[in-house]
Amino acid sequence: MKYLLFIIFILVQITANETMEGVYLKNGCQGCHGLYGEGIGASPRLQGLREKVILQRLKNLKQGKTRTAFGNIMVSFAQGLSDEEIVEMAKYLSTLKRVEGRETYELEDDNSGDGSS
Ligand code: HEC
Repeated sequence: MKYLLFIIFILVQITANETMEGVYLKNGCQGCHGLYGEGIGASPRLQGLREKVILQRLKNLKQGKTRTAFGNIMVSFAQGLSDEEIVEMAKYLSTLKRVEGRETYELEDDNSGDGSS
C-alpha cells in the first residue's frame, strides 16, 4: 500500500513538471518547430531565445502582426493561445538549451518595434 502511494506521488511530480512543455505540445508547435523548438527548415528555432523576445513576438502574432516573410502562417496558431499560455510558452522555450552546431533558421534576437509591416 505504501508502495502504491509512492508511485502516485511520483506520477503527480512528473505531470507537474510537464505542464509547461504541455502547452507547447498540446498546440502542435513541435510539428513545425521541432520537439524541442530546435527549428526545422522554414520554421525558426525557438529553443533558448530570450523570454522577452518570444513573448513580444507571440503577442504581435496574436494581433496579426509579424516581422517575417511568411509569418502569416503563424497568426492562426498564436491566436489559438490564451494570454496565459503565451506567457508560459515564452518561459518554457527560453529555458530550453540551444543545441550548438546545428544549422537552423534564426530569428533576429531583437525586441524592438511592434512588428507591423
Ligand atoms: C504549420 C507549421 C507551424 C506551426 C504548427 C507553428 N509554427 Fe511557428 N512558425 C512557422 C513558420 C514557417 C515560421 C516562420 C515564418 C517566416 O519565416 O516568415 C514561424 C514563426 C514563428 C515565430 C516567429 C514569428 C515572428 O513574427 O517573429 C514564433 C515566435 C513561432 N513561430 C512560435 C510558434 C509557436 C509557439 C507555435 C505553437 C503554438 C507555433 N509556432 C506553431 C511554422 C509553424
